[in-house]
Amino acid sequence: MSQIMSQPGETGEAAMLAETGYSQTAIKYYLEKPNMRAMADADQVSEFLGSCGDTMKVFLKIDNDVITDASYQVLGCPGAISAAMAAVDLIKGKDLDFAKSLNDGDIFKVLVAIPVKKHHCIQLAVKALHKAVDEYREGGVVPDGCETDCDCKQGCPSKGILSSPKK
Ligand code: FES
Repeated sequence: MSQIMSQPGETGEAAMLAETGYSQTAIKYYLEKPNMRAMADADQVSEFLGSCGDTMKVFLKIDNDVITDASYQVLGCPGAISAAMAAVDLIKGKDLDFAKSLNDGDIFKVLVAIPVKKHHCIQLAVKALHKAVDEYREGGVVPDGCETDCDCKQGCPSKGILSSPKK
């Protein structure tokens, strides 16, 4: 694969990412993180731990099976962050079946290019999203660290409808 060179005048982190094979689209997603936030009134919150040890939390706002809003919190590399940000742009306004059918290739097309050794990071974003859809359809699962009767106002969607009660 040909290297994607940095743009004239580009410095620091952006230039380094460009030199290692990230497209300008992927770099923009990583640096601006447009969809990186917790969502207080989410209808579903799910967490996924990747085999690399990095984690993602997915927040979905759902109305009649349509994803009206989505966001991620990512503890991971630039590849994972850019993939998660692109995933949100792909699923907003779409239904749950579409989100469940989203695959690595769909996200890669948006990102244009990321280093080959980072392609597995796209899977982290996809698997986290699929898990969120599955858990929503199963009635929701309280994210780790939540108490079923807490009053933290974090938007936990699962109070009283646990499919897998915490011990
Ligand atoms: Fe873990 Fe990229 S190395 S998400």
